[in-house]
Amino acid sequence: MTLSVIILAAGKGTRMNSRLPKVLQPLAGQPLLAHVFAQTARIEADRVITVYGHGGDVVKDTFKCPSYAQQVIEWVEQAEQKGTGHAVQVTLPVLPTTGQSLILYGDVPLVRADTLRRLLDAAKGGLAMITLKLDNPTGYGRIVRDQADKITRIVEQKDASEQERAITEVNTGIYAVDNALLHRWLPNLSNENAQGEYYLTDIVAMAAKDGIEIGSIQPSYAFEVEGVNDRLQLSALERQWQRHQANELMKAGVTLLDPARFDLRGNLTVGQDVQIDINVIIEGECYLGDGVRVGAGCHLRNAKISSGTKILAYSIIDDVTIGSDAFIGPFARLRPGTVLADGVHIGNFVEVKNSRIGDGSKANHLAYIGDAMIGAESNIGAGTITCNYDGANKHQTVIGSHSFIGSNSSLVAPVSIGDNATVGAGSVVTKDVPADTLAVARGLQRIITTYIRPKKTK
Ligand code: UD1
Ligand code: CA
Repeated sequence: MTLSVIILAAGKGTRMNSRLPKVLQPLAGQPLLAHVFAQTARIEADRVITVYGHGGDVVKDTFKCPSYAQQVIEWVEQAEQKGTGHAVQVTLPVLPTTGQSLILYGDVPLVRADTLRRLLDAAKGGLAMITLKLDNPTGYGRIVRDQADKITRIVEQKDASEQERAITEVNTGIYAVDNALLHRWLPNLSNENAQGEYYLTDIVAMAAKDGIEIGSIQPSYAFEVEGVNDRLQLSALERQWQRHQANELMKAGVTLLDPARFDLRGNLTVGQDVQIDINVIIEGECYLGDGVRVGAGCHLRNAKISSGTKILAYSIIDDVTIGSDAFIGPFARLRPGTVLADGVHIGNFVEVKNSRIGDGSKANHLAYIGDAMIGAESNIGAGTITCNYDGANKHQTVIGSHSFIGSNSSLVAPVSIGDNATVGAGSVVTKDVPADTLAVARGLQRIITTYIRPKKTK
């Protein structure tokens, strides 16, 4: 049976007060609509049909590669917004006539695949929806049930009687429905109501009239059905989502020193007993092995860090692989393309870019290592710089194993330093240094005994 998903995303989002269409506003680092697409991928929808309107081209361009998260996204324009029912109507020409559809919203980003699967199960009779009991149901469509507790219709706030407004069970707007029924019902919607809109909610009364058993489920978490209309709601949902992710990580065995000061904008896979201090931001796809510790204020993006490694405070790690039992930071900056082997030490104010550093090698203070290959157990002294850029091109520096680069050396690439070689402090190395030798490339020290220090003129 084909599973289609219809995502309504034509709304203007006026209350965002932004040039960016609402469904492109980021939550946890990703556009709202991307969160919805991530879930449709999880439930392996056969068709993903997105109804766009305002700012449509920008929205389409954002997801323009023909597939997003391995899905083909179909776009249907709703040029004029005449209501949620009209928005689904415009998909009918491309909507299969058999199978089931889920109706979702581009601005309700966090509905979970598990919940959607439960909803599909509840729709075996032809129609089911997600409802929610709220202490304050104001603004929502209310679920009207008969004496036998069967759903008979939905009434919008603006059309509801005093008595109906007292109902606390509300419509979240998310449905699972047979396509054959959508094709039957939608052409019959009318806009004779308080808002002059074609209400999708009217299909519920049509289903009841057709004698269809209408299913309903509740979300596992309230945030799953929360929509975003302004930046206040966006920030509130962001906090709920971050807290949820933090809770899941703690259940998986991570210690978060303060789960309220932790931000995950992507996916984090963890081993056991990982410890993360406050104000850490984790982005993209990250992995932290057993016992990894991340100090306060670190920023990790696409980082793969093996067991026992310690990342000390305020380090920035971007697109980097680190072996086990390494020490990084505080205040280290590891840039894309860096691969550090086991037991590497990178200390404060050391920047490493596109370089491989072998087992046990150390650069403990104030260095720049760019486009370099360093063997095992080598020591890079404080202030050492690989001069990798000649103003036009980048060049490589190769340093062997067990070598020692004295402090404040400049290694002018392309240059290579052999195994077990030593470079004297303050050298400017422009020629290769053979293995097992000492290179000194600096002015010789002179002692001037007759020197008289100038005195201040009065
Ligand atoms: C809708 C439901 C209401 C439910 C509420 C939950 C209807 C008639 N009412 O009301 O029962 O409690 O959601 O939040 O369905 N959209 C379009 N094209 C349109 C109109 C809307 O794409 O022509 C999209 C909007 O971008 C938005 C979503 O549909 O993402 C909901 O529209 P909105 O007007 O906010 O519906 P509500 O009035 O909140
Ligand atoms: Ca509305």
